[in-house]
Amino acid sequence: MNKTKDIDEKVSYHPEYHIAPVKGWMNDPNGLVFFKGYYHVFFQYYPHKPEWGPMHWGHKRSKDLIHWEELPVALAPGNVEDEDGVFSGSAIVKDEKLWLVYTGHHYYDKKDKNKFWQNQNLAYSEDGISFRKYEYNPIISGPPMDSTHHFRDPKIWRHDDKFYIVLGNQTQNLNGRALRYSSDDMFHWRLDGTLAQSRCTKIEGNMWECPDFFAINNKFILLCSPMGIENQEHKFKNLFQTGYFVGKYNYKNNVCRDSSDFLELDSGHDFYAAQTMLAPDGRRILFAWASMWESEFKEQREGWAGMMCLPRNLIEKNNHLYMQPISEMNNLRTKLLNRGKLVSGTILSRNLSAAEVSFTIKKSLSFTIILNDNRQHRILTLHYNNEKNVFTLSHVDHKDDDRYVKINSSDYLKLDFFIDKSSVEIFIQNGEAVFTERYYASPLGISILANHKINGEFVTYALGM
Ligand code: FRU
Repeated sequence: MNKTKDIDEKVSYHPEYHIAPVKGWMNDPNGLVFFKGYYHVFFQYYPHKPEWGPMHWGHKRSKDLIHWEELPVALAPGNVEDEDGVFSGSAIVKDEKLWLVYTGHHYYDKKDKNKFWQNQNLAYSEDGISFRKYEYNPIISGPPMDSTHHFRDPKIWRHDDKFYIVLGNQTQNLNGRALRYSSDDMFHWRLDGTLAQSRCTKIEGNMWECPDFFAINNKFILLCSPMGIENQEHKFKNLFQTGYFVGKYNYKNNVCRDSSDFLELDSGHDFYAAQTMLAPDGRRILFAWASMWESEFKEQREGWAGMMCLPRNLIEKNNHLYMQPISEMNNLRTKLLNRGKLVSGTILSRNLSAAEVSFTIKKSLSFTIILNDNRQHRILTLHYNNEKNVFTLSHVDHKDDDRYVKINSSDYLKLDFFIDKSSVEIFIQNGEAVFTERYYASPLGISILANHKINGEFVTYALGM
């Protein structure tokens, strides 16, 4: 057998320390919540094949956000109110019970996947493991008159004495929109109106999936995943985007003011459908699907597909959201592999499959960081242009489809790479910018190239459970 093929076939793409299904298909994170001593992550799941199919809710829980326990499927489709799929949604704790709110998906004709209708439903659990669907489902039976059939992904929260839901929707004239509903008891809901709506389809989208709404530092953030935004030279290059608007909000009259443009949250090829939860210590923690609908999913040959990004701590500074790996990640360091001064053109660390590599670089001219496979083929290339303050990421599997991000100018650069078998997350300047990437190759080597002396250091740790 050809030797190089042999090397590839022995590589398992399954992550060591990220959430991924053991078998079957995973997409959006759902129902992120802290309940009775555990963080819970649910997710869109099809257990029978590594492909999207009638959606279930898969389920994992953790005491520390890094060691995850696999739990039975929480919700399966098939009831009258969710016949063809239990789509995305969220969770809330009320009266010692864990409540899930989710979209029921229904086809008019199972042969035509474009003709469907959607409603919103509840399920609950006392132990956080086995769930029962609410007997009076649906709680919201259909969209308002001026809407299309796209009506999904409820995010629930409590504010003062009331419950709120923000829902992803599309208007009849094809604008993305987030609808607000409210309730005094969580069972009877009224439509309050539009919380926000796309002001221009090309730059804000025609359907908003997976909305989330919360305040950080008294600023209101509407997080959503719009479909239909057009590519711009250096922005919005994925099939669909995930990003946010930041501004002011008045709960009483449901009016947003001084809203920013739609800002992309992560600049990589593989990031979608982000959702957040409030941790008991007040951190706003984000998970997203570290994949994209147009991706290749080479892991399907191993019987699984799709994974989550690392849990990220969201920080707001000057109307910009930073995403930082949660500090618990330090507890995954099993071994210091190497550290030292940066030298151009040598491999700094090699054979990395589950590892963290951090660079600190004093104000620098341009340079390039390269992740090679063990045959010295470039897998990922991160180029920094010091005049423009722009990072460009090239990926072997996305030829002529680079990704870009501009950062604020600074006297130093800090870069953290988290490698995990088939994913790399690159945190730039403590989360000011992030690239999330899947890749399919042997363990990686990392090197830096520059045509001047680089004043900086690196450190590499092996990560494991
Ligand atoms: C986003 C999404 C949601 C939907 C779910 C179905 O990725 O399309 O809008 O609820 O996936 O799996």
